[in-house]
Amino acid sequence: MRGADGQGGYTAVAKLLHWLTALLVLGMLGVGLWMVGLPISLTKLYVYAWHKWIGLTVLVLTVLRLLWRTRSPPPPLPATVTAWERRLAPWGHGALLVLLLAMPVSGWLMSSAGGVSVVWFGVLPLPDLVPRDSLTFDMLRTVHHWLAWTLVAVLVLHVAAVVHHDLFRRDGIFRRMSPFTR
Ligand code: HEM
Ligand code: HEM
Repeated sequence: MRGADGQGGYTAVAKLLHWLTALLVLGMLGVGLWMVGLPISLTKLYVYAWHKWIGLTVLVLTVLRLLWRTRSPPPPLPATVTAWERRLAPWGHGALLVLLLAMPVSGWLMSSAGGVSVVWFGVLPLPDLVPRDSLTFDMLRTVHHWLAWTLVAVLVLHVAAVVHHDLFRRDGIFRRMSPFTR
């Protein structure tokens, strides 16, 4: 079966990318919301730098994930999934993937507009995507903020859908992405 591991689940690579991204993104959302309230200090600068570096790592993981997806598409959904859920699922997953690209790209654009070039993990200097400009910076800051809350909302729906399937339908949707099943 194309894209599946033979038992209707995601491949080990897809699972690794999913759970690594999930861990990093949940951390990024928490740290992001916390760090903006910190007083100007060395700690704040340090946390901002790590926020940017890990955020760009999420970008790389998402690009790898999309490439992997073209090679190995998601396994077909089980028969217990209703017609409307079948139509909705790719949109939900698509929205998550778009947000996983839009979050880091908007952050990178914001940093460039704010006049702070990113040197990834202090080693790889990245190009500025837009010239320094305070109006553009403010606009991108708002975009980054609202994208983050949109991501939170879609994630709540994502987890609710998985819980609903496994708790009420018991159709093994979680097992498809579980790090503990092969
Ligand atoms: C930041 C957190 C998360 C992100 C960004 C995320 C993103 C995604 C994406 C994009 C897919 C689609 C995979 C693909 O088709 O290539 C997916 C699938 C899945 N996710 Fe998550 N996820 C997150 C957290 C979680 C959590 C906490 C759970 C567990 C409750 C979970 C359970 C699943 C399951 C079971 C699937 C497979 C659904 C299916 O059967 O097709 N995810 N996730
Ligand atoms: C998965 C990727 C990312 C997530 C989930 C994320 C999440 C967040 C969140 C939740 C905030 C707080 C927003 C607010 O309350 O206004 C924030 C702020 C910020 N993010 Fe990100 N971010 C990501 C990637 C990036 C990247 C790649 C950069 C830069 C290269 C970046 C730069 C910033 C900056 C500079 C702020 C502070 C803005 C301010 O001071 O108001 N972010 N981020």
